[in-house]
Amino acid sequence: MLRVAIFTSEAMPFAKTGGLGDVASALPKALKQGGEVDAALFLPLYEQTDRALLRERLFDNLEVEWAGGRQHVGVWLSEAIGAPAFLIDAPRYFQRNSIYGFRDDHERFAFFCRAALAALKRLGPPPDVVHVNDWPGGFAAAEIHARRVFDPYFAATRTLFSIHNLAYQGGFDPRDLEWLGFAWGEVHNAFLMDGAASSLKAGLMLSDALSTVSRRYAYEMQTPGQGYGLDWVLRMRSERLIGVTNGVDYDVWNPATDPHLAANFSADDLSGKRACKLALLRRFHLPEEPDRPLIAIISRLVAQKGYDLIRDAAGAILETGAFFVALGAGAQVYEDFLQRWRDIAPHRIGIYKGYAGEPLAHQIEAGADMFLMPSLYEPCGLNQMYSMRYGTVPIVRATGGLDDTVENFDRTRGSGNGFKFGEYSARGMLGSIYEALLCYAEPEVWRRVQLNGMREDNSWQAAARKYVELYRAVLRL
Ligand code: ADP
Ligand code: GLC
Repeated sequence: MLRVAIFTSEAMPFAKTGGLGDVASALPKALKQGGEVDAALFLPLYEQTDRALLRERLFDNLEVEWAGGRQHVGVWLSEAIGAPAFLIDAPRYFQRNSIYGFRDDHERFAFFCRAALAALKRLGPPPDVVHVNDWPGGFAAAEIHARRVFDPYFAATRTLFSIHNLAYQGGFDPRDLEWLGFAWGEVHNAFLMDGAASSLKAGLMLSDALSTVSRRYAYEMQTPGQGYGLDWVLRMRSERLIGVTNGVDYDVWNPATDPHLAANFSADDLSGKRACKLALLRRFHLPEEPDRPLIAIISRLVAQKGYDLIRDAAGAILETGAFFVALGAGAQVYEDFLQRWRDIAPHRIGIYKGYAGEPLAHQIEAGADMFLMPSLYEPCGLNQMYSMRYGTVPIVRATGGLDDTVENFDRTRGSGNGFKFGEYSARGMLGSIYEALLCYAEPEVWRRVQLNGMREDNSWQAAARKYVELYRAVLRL
């Protein structure tokens, strides 16, 4: 049995700000079910984490070497996700009012990585693979690379670095590298990038293998347009880089059993979806007109998600007569835009500004007719796959995982599960919205697109099998 330790900065149901939270708990669970990998998850214990999820405090005083001295942390075990999860309790760094966004974020996650490696050593024999995610995990990859030379515990352990988003690079003042323990040599240099230090770059340089969350993004990230200054590193390491498209945890995202919905439904009987739509209209104080199309979006409010296009097309979207429901947290400019848009047309637009947690996200997926993802770039994207299962038709830009998972609907052949446009412009997006609305007006045609999406199998099993192959391959290196 392969032993794999997965390091993450967020995982459902402990802490989540975006898709990594969903992936980081679904993958170890699927690996465990596959029966070939003994997977364990490591993450910080945040103020936001529900203490009821914790089973026992395994260690009270785990010693962590830090900044020339020693710190002590607690380690908790949880069995809430179907694979063991170990949570590092370091209040100084993680008892804060949000998960990211502090000046010392690099210090916080460097510490988490150091403490998680110390916890591994206390827990028993070394893992075969340490699988780290995004810039917070770069510190662990760098540390294992450095330590394996002199620390027999890590001598045979291999690292896999998964990139969920290349734009978040974990930048900090390179002078901190010294006291963080990356003072010199190859490891020090791997962090350096344009006069700053980047834990993402260190992870990309020093991990034994790299993966990202769709095939298309694996290609795009190697181009200057989408490489965020790191495309050359990825091209240099392209033989060690592979795209594995994320899956969906159908235990969590299943309209037939979803406990958050006004009514359950499935591909065989869609009738409950109407009740979900009515409940959603009520929730957002919109008129109860269930035949009027409803377009929804759930996303972090950042440029990545294509909010500039929505802002440019706001008037034209209103003119279509459709309802529009938006759930999002993030940049003030987009929150202000949403507020203004809603104030102009309170009978058409419903907004929720902030992070709403799971129930509302599920209710929107179930109650909407169409789900808009006009992303500038999208490493994978999960909501388009959730939407499909809920009979909600995705309208997406052909980029990254959106391009890989959504096939444009073809009226004559009746094939395709959504609507897709290429050009990053309001015009391009509106073209697909109009096409979707035309199909919506013909119930038989619409039913076809819905069912094509609902029957898609994006379960984690296939993706988990690819990770197992990847773990085996990295051990042969
Ligand atoms: P990303 O990871 O780039 O944010 P994904 O599509 O992979 O995009 O995943 C986003 C996840 O976060 C989905 O599960 C979505 O429902 C959830 N989500 C995003 N914004 C919010 C919000 N404001 N409230 C609740 N859930 C949200
Ligand atoms: C990132 C990406 C998103 C992806 C998610 C999970 O946050 O922006 O596209 O689905 O990670 O891999």
